[in-house]
Amino acid sequence: MAGSQTYYLTTPIYYVNDVPHIGHAYTTLACDVLARFMRLDGYDVKFLTGTDEHGQKVEKSAMNAGVEPQAFTDRVSKNFRDLVSLMNYSNDDFIRTTEKRHVESAQAFWRRLEERGEIYLGSYAGWYSVRDEAFYGEDELTTTPSGKKIAPTGAECEWVEEPSYFFRLSAWQDRLLEFYEKNPDFIAPAGKRNEVIAFVKSGLKDLSVSRTTFKWGIPVPGNPEHIMYVWLDALVNYITAVGYPEMGEGSEFAKRWPADLHMVGKDILRFHTVYWPAFLMAAEMAPPRRVFAHGWWTIEGQKMSKSLGNVIAPETLVNTYGLDQTRYFLLREVPFGNDGDFSHRAMVNRVNGNLANDYGNLVQRVLSMIGKNCGAAVPQPGPFTEADQALLGAAHALLDTVRGELKAQAFHKALDAIWAVVGDANRYVDEQAPWALKKTDPARMATVLYVLAETIRHLAILTQPVMPDASSKILDQLALGPDERGFGRLGEGGALKAGTPLPAPQGVFPRYVEETKGE
Ligand code: MSP
Repeated sequence: MAGSQTYYLTTPIYYVNDVPHIGHAYTTLACDVLARFMRLDGYDVKFLTGTDEHGQKVEKSAMNAGVEPQAFTDRVSKNFRDLVSLMNYSNDDFIRTTEKRHVESAQAFWRRLEERGEIYLGSYAGWYSVRDEAFYGEDELTTTPSGKKIAPTGAECEWVEEPSYFFRLSAWQDRLLEFYEKNPDFIAPAGKRNEVIAFVKSGLKDLSVSRTTFKWGIPVPGNPEHIMYVWLDALVNYITAVGYPEMGEGSEFAKRWPADLHMVGKDILRFHTVYWPAFLMAAEMAPPRRVFAHGWWTIEGQKMSKSLGNVIAPETLVNTYGLDQTRYFLLREVPFGNDGDFSHRAMVNRVNGNLANDYGNLVQRVLSMIGKNCGAAVPQPGPFTEADQALLGAAHALLDTVRGELKAQAFHKALDAIWAVVGDANRYVDEQAPWALKKTDPARMATVLYVLAETIRHLAILTQPVMPDASSKILDQLALGPDERGFGRLGEGGALKAGTPLPAPQGVFPRYVEETKGE
């Protein structure tokens, strides 16, 4: 869409040390829903995801698997690319940090920092956690009875002593604080913002940004004994994907940077809200506009972990409950930003309650009544009553509400608002009892069914970002073409035309039936 407003959003890039689980699927899902929403709202969207393939953690995993790191990353990265079709993500690009475009970009960014005097050579002696790929100060660690040093994240640390380049992070403390002050929406949710500010106020030390004791990374330009710290390498992916180091007028970078949103899990907030804006400011480039930190999923009340054997693969959920059901559950069940628990019970309640009973039944009831009683075509409405206008008004008002909630990444509230109208519509069906009007007042029945079909049209257009396939099936049943599904069609302007023939209705949200043992 030429000239339309741009929106650039990113997921973290996933470490290729492991197969994807629902935590990974969740971060990308949230971005996918926003990307789809913004496209339907007329924005020129770029939605980026990818894999983080360098560093000690990945090198170790490759060694454990007995494979060369490149072959290993090719294999594991594919699992994340497969997740894209499994979960129906609509990303516009998939970046791998082992790609040439990224190696060149990371090296160009390094030189840019070096030219500005932001990087100097020294030596590092301190603690490092391979699991977190992070440096820790002695004061942050606890010691186990056996003398092991443990980071606040629970990860074990090892002592590292090696020559290292440093980034002058300490020099950016005040400018970071000023930046947070001037940009109150930069870090969300608000509680996380306060944590970051407190951390920066407590004092920043210069950051080690190169390693020499292993090889799997991007060589430091001019001193290939060193490889770049994996977090510097990884963060740069966000600018690589918009064509950096090409930054001139008319470039993709000029069009899309700064990013509108980096979506991240709460564990990697510091890298995105302290290191990354400091690197960018030091490189005389704009920091991203916003970083949102979401919470973590536990499984039936327990932390997800390999040792507990309770790691859930996204595939299992999709195969058991359905794709759109899974997408809906993950964003509806837990207020976005909070930690949440996955349980089979909660999932079944959502699938059978909100989807099969509330939304699915509404659509099925209304469309079958139209099919049977209105000649399988959009009915001709008569004058609208107050009740009709109230329901249509609620449907018309939804876009603004949903837009506002999604601007704040409040997916659960956006869905609550949509389901409030689903509830209104179901109450309206019961009150108006169109089946009874069939004999007494067929013209009024036609009006009621028209109002309901029009409400369903609004609901289905607005549920597209979260449930693309199911919504599309509903819109098909309303005989709406591909160009009649954007948000521009919401409201009276795109209203259903009486007489339009409708295809035979079919169920969209099956009930989940518990398998009974012994059957
Ligand atoms: N490679 C880094 C990110 C670099 S971005 C420049 C990384 N990768 S990761 O694979 O470990 O994690 C990726 C994302 O998955 C993070 O946002 C993390 O919060 C998320 N999750 C991992 N486990 C999770 C849960 N149990 N629940 C929700 N999200 C979780 O960090």
